[in-house]
Amino acid sequence: MEQLKGLILSGGKGTRLRPITHTSAKQLVPVANKPVLFYGIESLAAAGIKEVGIIIAPETGGEIREAAGDGSQFGVAITYIEQDEPRGLAHAVLTAEPFLGDSPFVMYLGDNLLRDGISDLVDAFRESEPDALILLTQVPDPSEFGVAELDGERVVRLVEKPKDPPSDLALVGVYMFGPAVFDAARAIDPSWRDELEITDAIQWLIDSGKRVESRLVRGWWKDTGHLEDMLEANRLVLEDIERRIDGELVDSRVEGRVVVEQGARLERSLIRGPAVIGSGSTIADSYIGPYTSIAPKVTVSGSEIEHSILLSGSRVTDLAARMEASLLGRNATLARGDGLPKTLRLIVGDNSEIAIP
Ligand code: G1P
Repeated sequence: MEQLKGLILSGGKGTRLRPITHTSAKQLVPVANKPVLFYGIESLAAAGIKEVGIIIAPETGGEIREAAGDGSQFGVAITYIEQDEPRGLAHAVLTAEPFLGDSPFVMYLGDNLLRDGISDLVDAFRESEPDALILLTQVPDPSEFGVAELDGERVVRLVEKPKDPPSDLALVGVYMFGPAVFDAARAIDPSWRDELEITDAIQWLIDSGKRVESRLVRGWWKDTGHLEDMLEANRLVLEDIERRIDGELVDSRVEGRVVVEQGARLERSLIRGPAVIGSGSTIADSYIGPYTSIAPKVTVSGSEIEHSILLSGSRVTDLAARMEASLLGRNATLARGDGLPKTLRLIVGDNSEIAIP
């Protein structure tokens, strides 16, 4: 098989992660202090792919370019491809046609995370050379995804977000295609959500007698589109970290698998892993509990935090209750006000969600 290319979809509006996505791309939200997108690029690189196209949206493209650069940090060459409107995954494939040419390719949704990477699945694709190879996994809530109906190993039908799912096998956001997918993407009509669905394009391949194979994903898979999934992905990635303390500890205790980056400082605090504390962050008189990722340049004082993601530059001070299952945006401040009257004083962005004890 000729050299495979990679195509990462990193456009989209990220509506399910607002307000974070009002100002930043959802693919750059960090999981264990690394942008979700980077896990995808690394998976493609590990599968031996050298040329990667990244589909970007006009609003967030600049930020993505800045983060991923020319790809040399990952050992790949990145080409950025702008999609003016999020008109569906199959539309993204058509937008990338000039970059992809006749090469078979792996399409990777930039907000997806697969624990075991994709190398063995890409090898299976290289060996068998089908027109499409899709990845499936069992999920408890199939109506949230594209769903496959199988007859033995053969894929007979795919439906996008079915009300009445034919199985519990969801389409994972990683697909492998030969060039026949372009005909498919051109042949289909937009769906009820007015998108050219890749699910419909693959169904078209099946109906046209093309060879569509499927494989089950073994390790965990997460689509980080919702806050709960993002926190869950963070939890799962943190499960695999190894303890490393490079920062400074002053009268503090660090229990279990915790990374304290160089330049981070803990004062009179307890960190109970798995957790990561980014460089330049200060944790004082606080408790940081399991499954917490604290980005660089964060300040936490007099507070307790668990199972949360804090983005860079955020500050948490003197909370009366433990913060948990939360995502705090860049430079956001969460503090207890001094003095009277005892009121709430807030600047809350559009679509924020706040629960107060
Ligand atoms: C997309 C696909 C869906 C697939 C999912 C995986 O859904 O349309 O078939 O199961 O990605 O993440 P979307 O994220 O566009 O709702």
